[in-house]
Amino acid sequence: MKLYDVYPLFDINIVKGEGCKVWDDKGTEYLDLYGGHAVISIGHAHPRYVEKISKQVAELGFYSNSVINTQQQNVAGKLGRISGYEDYSLFFINSGAEANENALKLSSFKNGKKRVIAFKKAFHGRTSLAVEVTDNPKIIAPINANGHTTYLPLGDIEGVRAEIEKGDVTAVIIEGIQGVGGIQIPDNGFLQELQTLCNATDTTLILDEIQSGCGRSGKFFAHQWAGIRPDIITQAKGIGNGFPIGVVLISPKFEAVYGQLGTTFGGNHLACAAAEAVIDVMEEEKLMENANSVGNFLMKELRGIEGIKEVRGRGLMIGIEFDEPIKEIRSKLLFEEHVFTGVSGTNVIRLLPPLTLSLDEAGEFIRRFKKVLNK
Ligand SMILES: Cc1ncc(COP(=O)(O)O)c(C=O)c1O
Repeated sequence: MKLYDVYPLFDINIVKGEGCKVWDDKGTEYLDLYGGHAVISIGHAHPRYVEKISKQVAELGFYSNSVINTQQQNVAGKLGRISGYEDYSLFFINSGAEANENALKLSSFKNGKKRVIAFKKAFHGRTSLAVEVTDNPKIIAPINANGHTTYLPLGDIEGVRAEIEKGDVTAVIIEGIQGVGGIQIPDNGFLQELQTLCNATDTTLILDEIQSGCGRSGKFFAHQWAGIRPDIITQAKGIGNGFPIGVVLISPKFEAVYGQLGTTFGGNHLACAAAEAVIDVMEEEKLMENANSVGNFLMKELRGIEGIKEVRGRGLMIGIEFDEPIKEIRSKLLFEEHVFTGVSGTNVIRLLPPLTLSLDEAGEFIRRFKKVLNK
């Protein structure tokens, strides 16, 4: 059987990782400023993570959601504390798209409405509702195009107000920081007005923190820079450090109903071990502080480099925009300087490194980046 060919691949076979470095099958070492697409939060093969998961799989890898799993309660306690959302409830799932899918369902169950406001350039995943609120017609199959979504420009509060006034909007969904859209940060004032508007109209405000959460922005969730408290927050990627986990944080406004949501794998024992290790390490190693200081260093250095149109970001979620396509720069970084980076669209390089990135490693990236730009 061959693989279903949907991914354009780099001709590199990564076989090992440690901290912010990965190695290919030929032994070449790479600096990882991509984190496997914002997934690696506490670093590759962190010893605490390896130990916790290894111990867990040797004891019990899985049992179903029909019995008590105290590890889920442990994760809920720790996640509540580290995020500042102790009064919210936690629902486990397996991926970012599924987290958004369940958030949208919950909203519609609660207020009985069907239309969603999403924003231009948003990415929320590829399952049926998640893809329908994603602003990319190329990935919306006819079966998913059910007319539930109105896309508005990011920041258009009057547009949101006008749509909500029509009376059929169940939810507004917005990324803490748009990732695929090119590291676009919503204004604090816009987020605050959005919250006020949603509260006043029983519209659910859903914050998609799948990429921007788990400390990446320097606060646990990027929306916390604006001081708001959304009704539902979704998170995935960094919370598992590579183990597939999605979580939905649900405000006390929502009342749980037996059987309304469910999953086979979500919150299994191994997933909980992974999430607990991630949260413990984030706290012990003060990774949010590190994301802030190393992120600020990177942005300051990048802003001093000539030829870059704009540097945007918070913490270790950084976009470097050029006037021209960056394909060649990214390719040189990878194949000549052995640095992994991400991309948004054609002109933006996206940095999403492990939150353990040191100042030395950040400095090394800047050195190699300048070398590529000066060639
Ligand atoms: C903001 C955002 N939402 C949702 C998703 C979908 O997550 P997953 O690929 O785990 O389904 C992604 C993935 O890149 C994302 O960046």
